[in-house]
Amino acid sequence: MARILITSALPYINGIKHLGNLVGSQLPADVYARYMRARGHEVLFICATDEHGTPAELAAAAAGEPVAEYCARLWTVQKEIADGFGLSFDHFGRSSSPQNHRLTQHFAGRLADAGLIAEVAEKQVYSRADGRFLPDRYITGTCPNCGYERARGDQCENCTKQLDPTDLINPRSAISGSTDLEVRETKHLYLRQSLMRDKLRDWIDSKTDWPVLTTSIARKWLDDGEGLQDRGITRDLDWGIPVQRGTEPWPGMEGKVFYVWFDAPIEYIGATAEWADAHPDSGGWERWWREDGGAEDVRYVQFMGKDNVPFHTLSFPATLLGANADGAETWKLVDYIKSFNYLNYEGGKFSTSEGRGVFMDQALEILPADYWRWWLMSNVPEGSDSNFTWESFQAGVNKDLADVLGNFVSRVTKFARARFGDTLPEGGDYGPQELALIEDLQRGLVGYQAMMDGMAFRRASQELRQIWVLGNEYLQSAAPWAAFKADPDRAAATVRFAFNLIRLYAILSRPFLPEAAARMLAALGHPEDGWPTDVAEAIATLGPGHRFEVPEVLFAKIDDARRIELEGRFAGAA
Ligand code: MF3
Ligand code: ZN
Repeated sequence: MARILITSALPYINGIKHLGNLVGSQLPADVYARYMRARGHEVLFICATDEHGTPAELAAAAAGEPVAEYCARLWTVQKEIADGFGLSFDHFGRSSSPQNHRLTQHFAGRLADAGLIAEVAEKQVYSRADGRFLPDRYITGTCPNCGYERARGDQCENCTKQLDPTDLINPRSAISGSTDLEVRETKHLYLRQSLMRDKLRDWIDSKTDWPVLTTSIARKWLDDGEGLQDRGITRDLDWGIPVQRGTEPWPGMEGKVFYVWFDAPIEYIGATAEWADAHPDSGGWERWWREDGGAEDVRYVQFMGKDNVPFHTLSFPATLLGANADGAETWKLVDYIKSFNYLNYEGGKFSTSEGRGVFMDQALEILPADYWRWWLMSNVPEGSDSNFTWESFQAGVNKDLADVLGNFVSRVTKFARARFGDTLPEGGDYGPQELALIEDLQRGLVGYQAMMDGMAFRRASQELRQIWVLGNEYLQSAAPWAAFKADPDRAAATVRFAFNLIRLYAILSRPFLPEAAARMLAALGHPEDGWPTDVAEAIATLGPGHRFEVPEVLFAKIDDARRIELEGRFAGAA
């Protein structure tokens, strides 16, 4: 039994996420966490909302709410939707928690002690009308690169060039629109991550088993020198973690907060501390995060979209390694980063700002979570970007879930009920056909596990589907409805075998389809955890006399009229 720490990239607090966000981190992390728990490992699965920074402040202002209230409200909204999707976080935290405040300030203090923080006098745009500095998105103006008139202070959305607020032409305040701006000098903290380039490179080089998508992004930033320039880690904002050097004030930094990308990954640890504080018998967060505190045997896996990779391969490790410059605090570094490409929507981009695509709350209003979980995971953008279309969704639901898995369960249970009542029949024995199937299933199981262990989720879903198909083929050829008259014992043995297949399918499908799996097991009166190792054994679990129920339809088909209606409903936003 291993100990596995799993984190999903933290969703920004400002609004409900779309299916592209979901499939790019939280959902595959959940499938993996469920699988690893089922395999008997000790799993800690952590997520949280990423609450600081200008997007949160501006969204709160747009909603006319104080930012703290806005974040508290949106956390509840996101938490409920995550529950609706069956995301089995052990803890869903908040980056604004007191635990994260303490840890972030602690890291800053450690980095400063190690000489890894520089105080830099910077020229910043100050708005006289607003009485404040205008960092990042608080300022808009014309892009010096492409001439786009609504470029933001941190980046031009039109040409994607990274900008500095002072680069903008004709700048104005995003709060008041005021152009009464001036450049003032102010001091900021910089993380001197350029000093850590060699350490980081050695660490990345040691990760020979990482996906190329992950390491190539990290290397590009290391080699360009672009990503490893020293980074400003403080901002002139109200909402955030006040800059302190550990528990001490930081002279000259009064009124400033840490930059959101500095405190957000630290919240992986913060959320673990939130969880540990709420579970006094947990043994403490250090057990998961400090190699000098019990975490030396933890395997840590992170899930994220490719745009997050630089922060997780370079910046966050720089924080963790830098805090251990004197060897006194050995922080747990990630062992494996599973990163994803993008999911597109009907050939274009999902867009939060334009409301384009399907958002998590809308999805759950249309169909239960398992329908989405299945389509998303069997089309997860692993090797390349993938594309959501309503047609593909309809096909996946109808062909895989309704025709294969759902149909199998329904035919078996309905036939058994009609012929044998509400318990499994006696008589007959498994014959050559069943023994051959057991061998095929055993091979299928081994293949499925290999894909899940390797986090090749798209292929894992294909392996799983193939295991369902084997059951349908068996049922078709054993044809208990035809055998029933001439050879009732044969029909009885087939039915018992098929019921054991339903149980096997429920257990194997649970990482992808937790709700359907629970209903299948409930119909068998057999709720249970665990995982089969030997199919021959697993298939001998339910015997004659076992009571069962016929479950409601597991998966309803999406007909063309419904698909067209949904296409139309969502086309408006395109
Ligand atoms: N909120 C970021 C995003 O959605 C991800 C933050 S991951 C963290 O892109 F590790 F930094 F928290
Ligand atoms: Zn531009």
